[in-house]
Parts: sequence; C-alpha cells; structure tokens
Amino acid sequence: MDHKDHVDLLSAGIPAPRGTEPVWLDIGSGTGAFTLALAELLGPGTHIYSVDRDRSALAIQEREMNRRFPGVKLQTIVADFTDLPDLPQLDGIVAANSLHFVRRERLTTVISGLKQCLAPNGRFIVVEYNTDTGNQWVPYPFSYASWVQIAAQAGFAHTKLLAHRPSRFLGEIYSALSV
Ligand SMILES: C[S@@+](CC[C@H](N)C(=O)[O-])C[C@H]1O[C@@H](n2cnc3c(N)ncnc32)[C@H](O)[C@@H]1O
Repeated sequence: MDHKDHVDLLSAGIPAPRGTEPVWLDIGSGTGAFTLALAELLGPGTHIYSVDRDRSALAIQEREMNRRFPGVKLQTIVADFTDLPDLPQLDGIVAANSLHFVRRERLTTVISGLKQCLAPNGRFIVVEYNTDTGNQWVPYPFSYASWVQIAAQAGFAHTKLLAHRPSRFLGEIYSALSV
C-alpha cells in the first residue's frame, strides 16, 4: 500500500467541509502512514495528536510531516494509547492497524475510553485486517462484522464500511467509520 491507498481508505470518513482547524488523534501511528494521509485530507491548520509508544517511529513521522505538510500542526506523544494523557476535545480519531494489539476482552473498554475524548458527533475511523483470527504479528484483529458489534457496545450509534483493499497479509484490510 502507498500514500494514495492510505488516503483512499480514510477519505470517505472525513467530513466536508472539514471545519475550522479540526483536531484529530492518530493512535498507534507508527511512522505516520495514516497521519500523513489525514494531513493531506484535512489540510493546513489541522492539529493532529499522534500517539505511539515507539519514540523513534514518531521522530521519522515528524520529519516527513514537516517536509510534506508543513501547514499541519503535528504533536507527537510517546504514550500508551490505552492510557492517554489529557487531550483537548477531538473531532476525530484514527486507529489504523493498532487496535489489534489490544486483547479482545479489553477492547470495548478501551474504545469507550477513547470515545470520551471525542466531541459530540466526533468520528472514529478504524483500519483493520478483516479477520478474527490473529497470529504472532497481528495478535487480536477484528473483522468488520465484529467491529460493528464492538463499536455499538462502546457507545457508537452508527458504523459504516468506508473502503476495503486486498492485502497480501491476512487477505483484506478495511476501513470503517463509527459516530
Ligand atoms: C502495525 S503498526 C501501525 C502503524 C500505522 N498506524 C500504520 O498503519 O502504518 C502498530 C503501531 O502501534 C503501536 N502500538 C501498539 N500498541 C500500542 C499502545 N498500547 N500504545 C501506543 N502505541 C502502540 C506500535 O508501536 C506500532 O507503531
């Protein structure tokens, strides 16, 4: 997957118009594949909080963001996204290929906690492998069908499928929007 694929997976979940200086959070953002896609979709003036426990990945991401999207205000935070520091109210959250590190029995509680950070009608976009069978690299993935249930249990009223792509790894990757 390249930058266009990342943009395409998120684009239908981004509001139009995007609002004034939107504030988004990317959890488990790594080197920033989807943070950069968010930056492109939301544009200059956007504030993106980007959380990962891997400091070196965040440093790579900062360099790329400064080079490619200097008008976006990126704030990287080295933290565990299941135990976030205080953040301002968010317009949206992206969780791309990161929630599959959370054990299924904890997932609804973690999602409910993240939902508390969102403004009313705030958006939660998940990108995940479309399977419920994990492996040593992707321990606890959840299919779209499972995500519909998890999101509802966490308090989201509506979930819809945004896009999907074939993946050499675990068959398919999907994106979904919950509000
Ligand atoms: C597979 S990578 C995905 C990176 C990026 N979102 C993407 O899709 O390219 C998963 C990332 O989640 C981070 N991660 C996993 N569990 C985490 C946690 N509890 N708190 C913070 N970061 C976490 C890892 O450090 C890693 O950078």
